[in-house]
Amino acid sequence: MFENVQIAPPDPILGLTEMFKADPNPDKINLTVGVYQDAHGKTPVLASVKEAEKRILEQENSKGYLPMTGEPVYCAQVQELLFGEGHEIIASKRAATAQCPGGTGALRVAGDYLHTLHPGANIWLSNPTWANHNTIFTAAGLNCKKYDYRDPMTNGLDFDAMCASIKTIPKGDIILLHGCCHNPTGIDPTPEQWAKIGDLLASQDVLPLVDFAYQGLAVGIEEDRAGLLELTKKVKQMLICSSFSKNFGLYRERTGALTVVADNAEQAATVMSQVKLRIRYNYSNPPSHGGQIVATVLSDKQLRAQWIEEVADIRNRINEMRHLLVKTLKEKGLKQDFSPIIEQCGMFSVTRLTKEQVAELREKYSIYIVDSGRINVAGLTQDNMDRLCEALKEVL
Ligand code: LMR
Repeated sequence: MFENVQIAPPDPILGLTEMFKADPNPDKINLTVGVYQDAHGKTPVLASVKEAEKRILEQENSKGYLPMTGEPVYCAQVQELLFGEGHEIIASKRAATAQCPGGTGALRVAGDYLHTLHPGANIWLSNPTWANHNTIFTAAGLNCKKYDYRDPMTNGLDFDAMCASIKTIPKGDIILLHGCCHNPTGIDPTPEQWAKIGDLLASQDVLPLVDFAYQGLAVGIEEDRAGLLELTKKVKQMLICSSFSKNFGLYRERTGALTVVADNAEQAATVMSQVKLRIRYNYSNPPSHGGQIVATVLSDKQLRAQWIEEVADIRNRINEMRHLLVKTLKEKGLKQDFSPIIEQCGMFSVTRLTKEQVAELREKYSIYIVDSGRINVAGLTQDNMDRLCEALKEVL
């Protein structure tokens, strides 16, 4: 049965990481996958995470299965991080959360739920979006459509075009929104724009699915929920997929969650009962370790404060690299306006590099960038900046 199987195409993001690892050039630069690197090019384990792990190792007394929806303490912490302590959604129990294996696992469970309970519904993705969104939802059986987002002329948000596209979305469809630090553009709506988006979705009966993978990397943990909170004022029902890969550095621990926000507690529990079925046939119940780390850090006042500082360090270093990139490109004499890179937030920016220029950077200079021209700003350092900008000057 295997004789006629064709080799699969490489993943547009993770496939390049494999190529990067195989490249013998000692000066190679990896700006592909969204993984944070510190000033020395290392992806560290946060000190708050290390301390939490020590405590977990000492205290853990069972490796029995978690419930299908994961550890309740973790799920409660996820909700608090999303909405803020004491928020009405939490107090009224209108939200139900399931611990999932990473943001990707949460998105897939959401996709399975949506496809089986709402057959025929389309999911609308921003143009552009994270390459994996399309494949996850297509694999789940949903039909993917696009709404306008980035203005290629200004490298900013084309809000009028976004609203015009949203107005065409039929009742009962789903729209995927990025909670903050839009992947791949780094361009987010303002809170006022989020409120307008919420009005449109409410009037059209379109269900938002918020992919929230970068909380804390734009302005701050609390500030970054502003868009989500605007949305909750306008729309009663939504799905939210959380990931703690980036803000806790828990990439390989696959730590995420799916939160259902419903009209009332009973409805939330009913929807979650359907979500549970999808969890059972996908992976039965979630892995524990990452969730225990998040719950331990967030439940301890000191560890939580330490974590907030560590997230600020990550955010500040990325922002420094944004400034340094724009400055160095200018110093090299490049005439294009790169200043929007400074306004953008989170790990990514989309450059105007063509597929051919991306290939030239890879083949001649061992600089790895996603084919769409997305760069991981968190992979830039003082040490690799000059070499990158020199190469960009050559290919541009
Ligand atoms: C990315 O966009 O690079 C990250 O979200 C990691 C991934 O899985 O693609």
